[in-house]
Amino acid sequence: LNYHVPRTRREILEILLKGLLRLEYRGYDSAGVGIDGGNGKEWEANARSIQLIKQSGKVKALDDELTMYMCFFFFFRESKGYEFESETDTETIAKLVKYMYDNRESEDLSFATLVERVTQQLVGACSSTERGGPLLIGVKSDHKLSTDHIPILYRSLHYCISPAGKDKKGCPTLPRMEQDTCHTLFAEEKKSVEYYFASDASAVIEHTNRVIFLEDDDVAAVTAGRLTIHRIKRTAGDHPARAIQTLQMELQQIMKGNYSSFMQKEIFEQPESVVNTMRGRVNFNDNTVTLGGLKDHIKEIQRCRRLILIACGTSYHAGVATRQVLEELTELPVMVELASDFLDRNTPVFRDDVCFFISQSGETADSLMALRYCKERGALTVGVTNTVGSSISRETDCGVHINAGPEIGVASTKAYTSQFVALIMFALLMCDDRISMQPRRREIIQGLRVLPDLIKEVLSLDDEIQRLAAELYQQKSVLIMGRGYHYATCLEGALKIKEITYMHSEGILAGELKHGPLALVDKLMPVIMIIMRDHTYTKCQNALQQVVARAGRPIVICDKDDYETAKSSSRTIKVPHCVDCLQGILSVIPLQLLSFHLAVLRGFDVDCPRNLAKSVTVE
Ligand code: G6P
Repeated sequence: LNYHVPRTRREILEILLKGLLRLEYRGYDSAGVGIDGGNGKEWEANARSIQLIKQSGKVKALDDELTMYMCFFFFFRESKGYEFESETDTETIAKLVKYMYDNRESEDLSFATLVERVTQQLVGACSSTERGGPLLIGVKSDHKLSTDHIPILYRSLHYCISPAGKDKKGCPTLPRMEQDTCHTLFAEEKKSVEYYFASDASAVIEHTNRVIFLEDDDVAAVTAGRLTIHRIKRTAGDHPARAIQTLQMELQQIMKGNYSSFMQKEIFEQPESVVNTMRGRVNFNDNTVTLGGLKDHIKEIQRCRRLILIACGTSYHAGVATRQVLEELTELPVMVELASDFLDRNTPVFRDDVCFFISQSGETADSLMALRYCKERGALTVGVTNTVGSSISRETDCGVHINAGPEIGVASTKAYTSQFVALIMFALLMCDDRISMQPRRREIIQGLRVLPDLIKEVLSLDDEIQRLAAELYQQKSVLIMGRGYHYATCLEGALKIKEITYMHSEGILAGELKHGPLALVDKLMPVIMIIMRDHTYTKCQNALQQVVARAGRPIVICDKDDYETAKSSSRTIKVPHCVDCLQGILSVIPLQLLSFHLAVLRGFDVDCPRNLAKSVTVE
């Protein structure tokens, strides 16, 4: 590829289509592209002749449409006033840009200034008044760039920062320069630098792994090959430059490989993804845990009044799953909250609270709002995310990246087990100097050491679980019962089944059976029970007897040498034994596999369930 030669329109279209394809996992139900008129004066002369090609459904449909029309579909604005063809913000913003251009005061208004003015008029995610998803710029060059920082220009102020070197905190600073000097930074490189603008690294990763994440109120422009980033106003704590970061993501990670779906691939990646979460952090020889992203705050966290874990969906279940061990090892009260409900209740939050925001994407609107709510009240905020550069990871005071690798399937699997492991590592870190806790810490750390092999053993049950799915897939409902460490597994298993099979499924706390759910049990109702050899074992046996006494025929997920449970069950799924607080990782995997096989047998698209999206960036 010689990218000294400017791209043709067709090549650009191919890049855009591939980018849209990579973003499809986030759950969009339509896609389109707009192409300028192509005479080099698109903005001034040709704004009326934008070719707009759009299709509902998958990006493949758009691709077919594009081939069919060969880009000769012209879109006219009406000669009088503005007529709207859709209710999308994309169209409205474009028309607002045009309106502001038509009504400009001066002739030499640049496009970048125009965009800045327009964004100030907007309210909502990604506008200048409220942030939603991130915007990043991929930078591709075949030679070393002259800088790895893009200085920020301020529109109304003279650009002025301290001389090159280090500031008081040791951060690199850039040489003092005036606006014009900044403009020429990439000038000599302009022929060999390509820029890709996208809301997700997946869309650009096959072109470059070097990206700049934009901050709130940044306006980036590429003019004649030069990239500039402006800010409308200077705010306290602004960093004077945006770094070009190198992502660890590889194209292969966002491809399906030999698997039939991303979800299946991600389920089978779990032996490696949990290792990646622990890599460089857990030392199995001296039983220590290091979390670089928390090291400056851990003393403050140890002194806090309580921990509040806030999240949505599967990430919330990771909080439920680890709450007990967090309470045990930190000896602090731990609240686990659904972000939406936490906000609805105006929950009291204090300066000496520590609030965790667990989010695979780092962009979920409710979790992000809850984060801002807690920050306003002075609490220390901690992010647990899978997405470097995401809003949650940038806006929290400190945090842990779970490093599970990109998760594409809408139904979260490997992110859950990695969030689980990350929270356990945090709990271990909190008590590393407590002598009385050392035997328990060692037991858990040695449990983490064998975890990847045990996950592999559970994954080897795949054929057996597929056979079970073949018996269940025509049912309407599935109840999943358990308690203690496995209550979260019940909730998460039921969520997986709902999300991708559209069957009704409920996660039931076995301790609540007599308070209602038992009425649902009869010989026809499919029931899955989780019974493990931990402190709730006897109580779970009790629940099993109650279900059997109502003619229920439970399928039980149990320890592989638990013959007693096997006697009362119509069927068992036997998983290896592990330290109690990690066993939930092993008990959830059979349910991930079951939901996957049920969805396939029912003929549904496993990766893109109807009505759902990977990142929910609206409230
Ligand atoms: C959506 C996804 C779920 C996810 C939830 C929270 O509903 O479909 O898989 O668990 O959002 O997302 P987060 O990125 O914050 O973990």
